[in-house]
Amino acid sequence: MAGVSVQAFRRQGRRFGAGLVCSEMVSCAGLHHGNERTLGYLRIAADEHPLAVQIFGSEPALMAEAARMVEDAGADIVDINFGCPVRKVTKTGAGATLLDEPDRAARIVSAVADAVDAPVSVKMRRGLEDGSRACLDVGPRLVEAGAASLTLHPRSARQMYTGTADHTLTAELVERVDVPVIACGDVTSRARAQAVLASTGAAAVMVGRGAQGNPWVLRTMVEGDAPEPAREEVAAELILFVRETVREMGERRAAGFLKKFYGWYLGRGRFPRPFKQELVLLESTDAVIERLLAAAPGAAGVLARLEEEQPPVDDRLLELPVSIYGGG
Ligand SMILES: Cc1cc2nc3c(=O)[nH]c(=O)nc-3n(C[C@H](O)[C@H](O)[C@H](O)COP(=O)(O)O)c2cc1C
Repeated sequence: MAGVSVQAFRRQGRRFGAGLVCSEMVSCAGLHHGNERTLGYLRIAADEHPLAVQIFGSEPALMAEAARMVEDAGADIVDINFGCPVRKVTKTGAGATLLDEPDRAARIVSAVADAVDAPVSVKMRRGLEDGSRACLDVGPRLVEAGAASLTLHPRSARQMYTGTADHTLTAELVERVDVPVIACGDVTSRARAQAVLASTGAAAVMVGRGAQGNPWVLRTMVEGDAPEPAREEVAAELILFVRETVREMGERRAAGFLKKFYGWYLGRGRFPRPFKQELVLLESTDAVIERLLAAAPGAAGVLARLEEEQPPVDDRLLELPVSIYGGG
């Protein structure tokens, strides 16, 4: 998720049981031009694997070049974005627009699959317009062109994030292709994951917004339902996330970037609402950490344990540029 799936998020996802994590989407044009911010997306830590890095663009040759860079950076899977509904992306002929241009979409997948040894996967929406079934025609063509798996978020691009994901389409797609299909959209609990898997025959589920500020949901999906995490644990995970993000992108950027995460972590009845607002107003992440420790004193012990279990930081990686995408 653009503006969300930073390294700290991905590493946390792996730690809580995700079998595979994915980067934010990376512009192939940005990689082609050596844009320093874009190159920052190619920072991969040892404990993220297996990791997919997602690229977007509309030119097969540029996408192939980007795929090679992504593979060289250490990605285990090269994922192609045919789902982004955001205008900034679709107006360039990339993202969900390609569902309306199946020939070009197939040429992109073919060029990327030829360029790398890593498996190539594709993420798509159902189509551009509400009620569209484009994914059912485009999907098999992409498999023919070399896609080793398909992820379907069965909302239209027009829908953005409104309405619900129609997983009857996921079930139809599963019938039409002989590669693993990953079901994505509104999977927010173990029960929902089980229902979607059972009703679609999908090989796996992908969890997006449900894991924002709530890595515990991943653990319940893998290990079984569990009580809500204690305040101390929530505060400790958030502090670890804050520290890692500051290390990743520097204090100035991280301080702004992290604000949305405070609501995600502290909501769900875990902390009183004014507390979140208080954190958002604090200027530095050190002040945020101090407030969290004051509100949940037991967090210090949990945090110490978590930090002890963290793998050592790869200093070489820290020298690479960093960036954050606007979100979308
Ligand atoms: C803030 C945000 C950023 C996203 N960025 C991407 C992206 O870069 N690439 C992508 O394939 N999907 C992106 N998505 C879509 C999600 O991957 C997912 O398909 C969608 O949110 C539905 O799943 P969910 O209901 O589990 O969130 C994004 C979603 C959100 C909310």
